[in-house]
Amino acid sequence: MLSPADNELLTRTGPGTPMGEFVRRFWVPFLLSRELIEPDGPPRRVTLLGEKLVAFRDSAGRVGLLDEHCPHRLASLFFGRNEECGLRCIYHGWKFDVSGACVELPSEPAGSPLQRKVRIKSYPVREIGGVLWTFMGPEGAAGEIPAFECLSVPESHRFVSQWMQECNNIQAIEGEIDSAHVSFLHRRFDKQNAPKTSIVGEYFRSDTAPSWRIDPTPYGLVAAARRGVDGQAYWRMNQFLFPFYTMIAPSHVGGTMTTRMWVPRDDESCWVICFSYCPDRPLTEQEVANFRAGENSHPVLIPGTMRQRANRDNDYLIDRTLQRTTFYSGIAGVRAQDTAMTESMGGIVDRSLEHLGTSDIAIIAMRKAMLAAARKLSAGEAPVAARGGSLYAVRSWSAMLPAHLAYDEDPAVIRAMRTAPIEASAAE
Ligand code: FES
Ligand SMILES: [Fe+2]
Repeated sequence: MLSPADNELLTRTGPGTPMGEFVRRFWVPFLLSRELIEPDGPPRRVTLLGEKLVAFRDSAGRVGLLDEHCPHRLASLFFGRNEECGLRCIYHGWKFDVSGACVELPSEPAGSPLQRKVRIKSYPVREIGGVLWTFMGPEGAAGEIPAFECLSVPESHRFVSQWMQECNNIQAIEGEIDSAHVSFLHRRFDKQNAPKTSIVGEYFRSDTAPSWRIDPTPYGLVAAARRGVDGQAYWRMNQFLFPFYTMIAPSHVGGTMTTRMWVPRDDESCWVICFSYCPDRPLTEQEVANFRAGENSHPVLIPGTMRQRANRDNDYLIDRTLQRTTFYSGIAGVRAQDTAMTESMGGIVDRSLEHLGTSDIAIIAMRKAMLAAARKLSAGEAPVAARGGSLYAVRSWSAMLPAHLAYDEDPAVIRAMRTAPIEASAAE
């Protein structure tokens, strides 16, 4: 459990909040490039860390991220005209470029000093790995974009999607690093012959109470879950990386890796950007088909939106017959299952009401790490990870080891958990 005060500190990321200030020390991924592909195309509303913004790609291909509201009389620039290297408010024609400078003020006399004085809030944007990133922190404090492997593999090796989850981002992250739920929530009755290491496989059925090893790292922590199976130890080493990233181990050697970005939209919803990728081979057609069908890792969305088809308004399409015969949860699709559980707690769960057990050790460790990091920044200590893009050149991994061995006593596992070569951050 968490005190109400700590719960507030953990979950509020609006401007001026301690956690909001912490997250703002990092580059923030906010939209897939493909969602804003066309120069002078329609602008998009982007809510980020509780701020209402608008993104547009100008005539030269540069992306701007501006306050949604025009500084003249606060009309929405979502309706603006995106033309000739700037976004023009359709109310009185004021026009702003990607840097936030006012470049035209046609409703005022020529030479008006107002044009020099007026600016719109703007944030810098970079485009790396098919993702648009922004920095919303103090001037001069921008560090490096994480050197994630998923951002540098060829496009044929990766599948990426973005959606909205309707709960606080920390709650969504807790659903991700909680290895114990896999044995229950994702169980299927119709896949008895699935590979033992698949999340619906025998290893997750035969040991439903994993033991944990938590290893703090400069970028966050490794949460390693150990299951005793077949007289050996099956280890899954998941990663939590500041301020909102997770990596989930592939279910078998050669399987796809998962990197997820859980970005606060506001305090009661988040953006999820999810990469599934293989470092050394293109994805197969079957893998891509499964991702598109919502079989695993990625959800099915309502066309033209970032909302999941199975959502809280339709009870995630739960089917009580399937709950008896096929899915332990009665909900089809791994992503929909996870979303149903984390959203069902409410926009921000009241953590003072919880009864945590040993299966929750990873969640407790992540909360502590986030609270400590936010408090350190409030005391004047900036986060090291925000300046060290190469710290993020790591992987999640899983391995079957002799029962007496811990995961970090096997050199092959340690090698597999770092990507090589470590690239300098792409954010030079
Ligand atoms: S409100 Fe935008 S130009 Fe007047
Ligand atoms: Fe899950």
